[in-house]
Amino acid sequence: MLLLLAAHLCAPCHAAIVERYQTTGMARSSGKLDFAIPPATVTDPASGAVYRIDKDRGMEFERGPVRGRRLLEWFVGSGNVGRSFLFSADGVLFQAPVSYYSAARKWDISPGYGGKRTIQLARAVEPGCLQCHASAAQPEGGVTCERCHGPGQEHARTAKPATIVQPAKLPAARRDAICAQCHLTGVARVAAATRQGATFRPGDLLSDHLAVFVWDTPEAGGFDATSHYERLAASRCKQASGDQLWCGSCHDSHREPAPAAKAAFYRERCQSCHAGKPCTKAAVTGDCASCHMPKGTSRGVDHVAFTDHAIPRRPRPAAPPVARRALRSFLPAPPGQRETALGYAVAAMTEPSLRRQAFELLLQAPRDVAVMAQLAQFHDRMGQEEQAMALCEQIVALEPGHPAAAVNLGIYKIKRGQTAAAIALWQAALERNPAMTGARMNLAVALWRGGQREPALAALRQLLRFEPDHEPAIRLLRELGGSP
Ligand code: HEC
Ligand code: HEC
Ligand code: HEC
Ligand code: HEC
Ligand code: HEC
Ligand code: HEC
Ligand code: HEC
Repeated sequence: MLLLLAAHLCAPCHAAIVERYQTTGMARSSGKLDFAIPPATVTDPASGAVYRIDKDRGMEFERGPVRGRRLLEWFVGSGNVGRSFLFSADGVLFQAPVSYYSAARKWDISPGYGGKRTIQLARAVEPGCLQCHASAAQPEGGVTCERCHGPGQEHARTAKPATIVQPAKLPAARRDAICAQCHLTGVARVAAATRQGATFRPGDLLSDHLAVFVWDTPEAGGFDATSHYERLAASRCKQASGDQLWCGSCHDSHREPAPAAKAAFYRERCQSCHAGKPCTKAAVTGDCASCHMPKGTSRGVDHVAFTDHAIPRRPRPAAPPVARRALRSFLPAPPGQRETALGYAVAAMTEPSLRRQAFELLLQAPRDVAVMAQLAQFHDRMGQEEQAMALCEQIVALEPGHPAAAVNLGIYKIKRGQTAAAIALWQAALERNPAMTGARMNLAVALWRGGQREPALAALRQLLRFEPDHEPAIRLLRELGGSP
């Protein structure tokens, strides 16, 4: 802590805040795994794989003859609810197939990893995880001051308030955007075309960077919603008080109240508005949140709201499932045609009834790489290979090695006997994204069929370094008489 304080840019003048902030989940939401973790053994019922976590941060895995070890190097999640772990191989970061669940106090299969037949070690960490849990594309440091206050160098030098963002002094939409950059999940978040690559900075409008879509159900983002943001928007408190109510009305970003102080801490926040017209059912000294913001019973690490931020009068029964027909933009700025089309394309992945509409919107949208990549996938799924192929050609011309386009184009080429072209495409894609096991498997098969045994063996060995339990690769390696 002392070291940390000394090195911290803000500590010389805001030592108390810096120290307090370190105790929050946000500050500890990612980092280097430089402490002991409890040893455990997890058996995956689906694959029969056994994972052993040892005190030296090793994760051994075993399924039949396949076995090995990975060093868990970083964590994501403070552990208030749970913790995921990352390891690296050949410079790529991967998520571990087992995670720690705090409420149950045990290790178990990671979210999204259940029900698989084989061990899964080659899922590269999505950049999104670290954009929300860390402050750059590296898994260290948690959420820093700058994520809510903007760059601080100039302010630290001048000590002038005007050189730093104070969220509470911003106009409401810009203020709310600061928490929304990470806490507003929606059904689909689509990066705006003009800002691809430009990162959000406190003080910006979120709609200049992102379009966020939610289901347009009768509950209007109420029951269906998953994130704190959408739930709060559905509350009577928010609807009746407008811009006056925001995340900062109840939360102090720099500290979490101690368990014993919680009831009073939040009550005080409620009473800042409800003092004049108190609760009809409870004393003014009651634990307001325990009745009006009940806790949900289940939350994995899937970012499903835990404390009900819709602030109901009375606990409500779960809503019956409703037909999902349309999406609605959550942010007030109307999204462009391109963003709407991409939002529908994302939503259609889990809601097949939206496929036709998504496809039509994509056809009408201005074409860039993202739109063309989605269109290519729709054509492919509809068996329209010529159209898909033409689009993939255009994409790789604009962006050589574009993962999805290069991999699929390679498949179309090989079907047409153009082996050399396919091999070049897969190699380009793997250059950009070395962990794509499907592409590397295709490459190995193409090399082998083209009589290039040694390069084929090298590709298989590389694949098995990332994914030792890849059955087709193990089989082909054996067939070629190679050893892993
Ligand atoms: C050299 C001293 C110094 C350093 C270093 C420093 N600040 Fe400040 N900061 C100040 C002073 C002085 C104020 C004005 C305090 C006041 O008005 O009460 C201030 C005010 C602020 C405010 C409120 C601005 C407002 O409009 O009211 C914020 C937010 C803030 N600092 C954040 C930071 C962050 C984040 C860092 C690190 C990146 C940092 N400060 C580093 C001296 C410093
Ligand atoms: C850079 C992303 C990011 C921003 C910006 C952000 N949060 Fe968070 N927040 C997180 C993550 C990630 C967690 C989960 C932390 C954990 O436990 O690992 C979290 C957790 C929380 C929690 C639970 C308690 C805690 O400290 O873990 C509260 C309350 C919270 N955030 C409020 C806010 C508010 C209010 C704002 C805006 C002023 C905000 N957050 C801005 C990412 C962010
Ligand atoms: C859009 C921002 C965002 C992205 C992307 C994201 N998270 Fe989170 N995550 C949060 C927020 C905010 C919380 C805490 C509150 C909540 O559940 O909404 C959280 C909570 C968690 C927790 C529980 C932490 C705790 O103990 O409270 C874990 C573990 C976690 N996330 C892991 C991941 C992993 C792994 C990924 C990538 C596959 C990921 N998250 C992607 C924002 C994000
Ligand atoms: C999750 C978002 C978030 C993070 C991270 C964060 N702050 Fe803040 N900070 C806020 C908000 C919101 C306010 C305005 C609170 C208010 O005035 O109601 C604020 C206010 C301030 C202020 C001025 C008011 C005061 O309390 O003195 C200073 C100084 C400050 N923050 C410094 C820091 C420093 C230093 C860090 C890092 C150790 C930090 N903040 C991290 C959201 C954040
Ligand atoms: C920024 C002001 C503000 C804050 C803070 C606030 N509320 Fe409200 N709340 C309102 C307003 C305004 C209404 C609508 C009153 C009306 O309709 O007469 C409301 C309505 C309600 C209702 C009635 C809901 C319904 O569906 O009829 C409940 C219950 C409630 N609030 C509880 C709380 C609790 C508990 C807290 C603290 C955790 C809280 N509020 C914090 C402003 C606020
Ligand atoms: C009316 C008060 C109120 C407002 C406004 C509010 N919260 Fe909360 N929030 C709470 C309470 C109460 C808890 C439960 C705290 C506890 O039990 O530790 C909570 C808990 C959380 C948690 C911890 C995980 C969970 O679900 O228990 C996160 C994250 C969070 N809030 C984020 C937000 C964000 C983001 C916003 C703005 C969109 C927001 N909150 C607005 C009262 C509020
Ligand atoms: C023991 C549970 C409980 C506690 C604690 C509690 N409430 Fe309530 N509250 C209720 C119930 C139940 C109702 C709905 C009464 C009804 O529908 O007739 C209600 C109604 C309300 C309303 C709507 C009043 C109206 O006239 O429409 C508000 C506002 C409210 N509560 C605020 C609060 C605040 C603020 C606190 C903390 C000081 C609090 N409640 C504590 C159970 C509770």
